[in-house]
Amino acid sequence: MITSYLIASVGTAFCSPNLLSWLGFIADESSATNVACVLFNVLAAILTVWLTAKIYRILFSPLDLYRGANSVGYVHHDSRIQTAQAVKDAQKRKKIGNSPPVFPNGWFRVLDSRSLEKGRVKSVYVFGTQLAVFRNKRGTVRIVDAYCPHLGANLAVGGKVVNSDCLECPFHGWKFSGETGKLVDVPYSQKVPSFVSISTWPCCEVNGFIYIWHHCDKAEPQWRVPEAELLKDFKYVGRTEHIVHAHIQDIPENGADSAHLSHLHKPVIGSDVEQTNDSFLNYLIRHGIQIERDILMWNNKTYLKKPVLMKEESALAKHRRWYQQFYSENSPRLDDQGNLFYPNKADVTDW
Ligand code: FES
Ligand SMILES: [Fe+2]
Repeated sequence: MITSYLIASVGTAFCSPNLLSWLGFIADESSATNVACVLFNVLAAILTVWLTAKIYRILFSPLDLYRGANSVGYVHHDSRIQTAQAVKDAQKRKKIGNSPPVFPNGWFRVLDSRSLEKGRVKSVYVFGTQLAVFRNKRGTVRIVDAYCPHLGANLAVGGKVVNSDCLECPFHGWKFSGETGKLVDVPYSQKVPSFVSISTWPCCEVNGFIYIWHHCDKAEPQWRVPEAELLKDFKYVGRTEHIVHAHIQDIPENGADSAHLSHLHKPVIGSDVEQTNDSFLNYLIRHGIQIERDILMWNNKTYLKKPVLMKEESALAKHRRWYQQFYSENSPRLDDQGNLFYPNKADVTDW
């Protein structure tokens, strides 16, 4: 390896002046030289392993880039205000009272399959709910409510996957079945009350992702996540992930809004839509720029329930009608202050 050769050469060069002896740490000049050589060789080996691992990671492992909430799409002109504050202000001022329900019924991707090993638990926060996602010893994924009914500890923070399919609370060691959510063991008590359990959520693993089923009325899954045949031929090499402050419906609606393509997505570095002999890197750069243009809109727009649409925009109206099927009467909404509420429930809290 070139790196190890270079580091070893530097090590040998440093051995000759016999630094340790000169400094007076070791009296015998030749043993001091030997010690210095060993030290440099150890250092060379450590650096080589470290550099090789780094280079391997850059070249062969997926390149995931996570962009913060305030990295794209917020423009402010007051230098006295920090960007993070400007983001908060923009969110507070956004008109949200008239938007559709915030969480449609359906499957939501919560994690990549590869990010959850057997016997591990992860904390996930989706649709206003704190959850614990774990993979049992047999490899099956389970999703349960995160808060322990004993004294409220978060099962995903310090909790352990035990036996073949149980989650153990980090606070007092109560154990819950991943399959049924039932309490199965209290380590310091003879009695295990049968009425104690945590909620379990329908979940599945398809296309390399872990999905959770959400329905505002707790209805069972009404369809399965289709397997994408195309993905089987793909090798995952990375992605950029953005946090976007928009209504969830705004994102797919973008696909039905063909009128914005020629205006917002004006070509960058050649044509954005069709370019057959383009390099992969150019494609990535152009795609990144185009997505960020959308994010600029999403982060700053409000959702208009009754937009003024032209005849040419019928696909957009059709998309809105199609999307209605994912909402129910009781789908949660946001009030003018941004608080979540369920239209048909007097009180959704149970404490
Ligand atoms: S809080 Fe979970 S066992 Fe006590
Ligand atoms: Fe777009």
